[in-house]
Amino acid sequence: MTRVFMVLLSVGLGWWLVGTPGPVTAQDLFGNPQRGKGIYEQQCQRCHGAGGWGDGPDAPGLKIPPANFHRFITQMKSDEQLFTTIEFGLALSPMHGWRGRLTDRQMEDVIAYVRALAQRGR
Ligand code: HEC
Repeated sequence: MTRVFMVLLSVGLGWWLVGTPGPVTAQDLFGNPQRGKGIYEQQCQRCHGAGGWGDGPDAPGLKIPPANFHRFITQMKSDEQLFTTIEFGLALSPMHGWRGRLTDRQMEDVIAYVRALAQRGR
């Protein structure tokens, strides 16, 4: 009986040690804005703008204006909803899907950065 208990204990302890490589911060739970910043600057900024106001250098040439991430309607959307938009894009819109160009992790990171941008003022 004690043997079974010891086995279970060491399995549990091992899982805990391997499963938690460091302190889990809130940032790691869904995306990391620091990593997302570089992706955003390379891939998204030209349309959505450096501050996320939808005013990037390519914006004036688009038939549909890029989303302004500061709008309440975008902020109300869940991470999953934004993820789906980024993954598959929007129909008939210059916002195409990024599946195949960005990994899941990169899309999560870029969402975290978009959320951080939306908190900032002008
Ligand atoms: C070619 C210009 C362009 C690029 C590049 C671009 N977007 Fe967009 N994006 C748009 C446009 C235009 C819309 C609005 C589409 C609509 O309303 O139909 C949009 C909408 C969105 C939305 C939806 C917001 C909402 O309220 O639902 C998200 C999220 C988004 N973009 C994220 C990104 C991310 C992240 C990147 C970079 C990986 C990116 N976009 C790159 C043009 C672009």
